[in-house]
Amino acid sequence: MTLASVEGARVSARIVLLKGVDARGFRFFTNYRSSKGEQLAAHPQAALCFHWKTLRNGVQVRVEGRVATLEAAESDEYFATRPRASQIGAWASAQSQTLAERAEFEARIDEFERRFEGVPVPRPPHWGGFVLAPDRIEFWYGADFRLHERQCYERAADGAWSRRMLYP
Ligand SMILES: Cc1cc2nc3c(=O)[nH]c(=O)nc-3n(C[C@H](O)[C@H](O)[C@H](O)COP(=O)(O)O)c2cc1C
Repeated sequence: MTLASVEGARVSARIVLLKGVDARGFRFFTNYRSSKGEQLAAHPQAALCFHWKTLRNGVQVRVEGRVATLEAAESDEYFATRPRASQIGAWASAQSQTLAERAEFEARIDEFERRFEGVPVPRPPHWGGFVLAPDRIEFWYGADFRLHERQCYERAADGAWSRRMLYP
């Protein structure tokens, strides 16, 4: 899914993997010190966007809401399911920082492989999940001649959801 976050008046978007949806919201995992991690910590409001080109005549789902960090135990649980090389990568990658040359990253991978040799790789404290609690979800269904259908669900302050259609 595309995840958009903000830093002041500047907007950033990138793809992240959706790792779960439940009553609390949409979960994804990342480096808390990455650009997105710092943006979400400073301004915990974000938007998600999905596109399925081949479903029906095309489906888009747009989600907006507040973001919170997942409990450490929940991030630990997911981190433990990741392949070992990805776990090492989470330690070795200073995500979004300047990398002078690829060899520097490879050296950090070697360093953490040595550090955790023969033991399970713990979750880095700067790596974990976020959950976006939606207050707006729009389903867009493609139709011929651009006569698309848009169903928009919005959550009021009291938690009640309402639905309205939007012109395409
Ligand atoms: C298919 C795909 C899936 C990705 N999934 C993730 C993810 O789950 N978490 C993540 O941190 N980055 C993921 N990335 C990398 C991000 O798009 C991005 O490059 C990285 O997180 C740094 O973003 P930032 O500098 O805005 O923080 C994925 C990229 C692609 C193309």
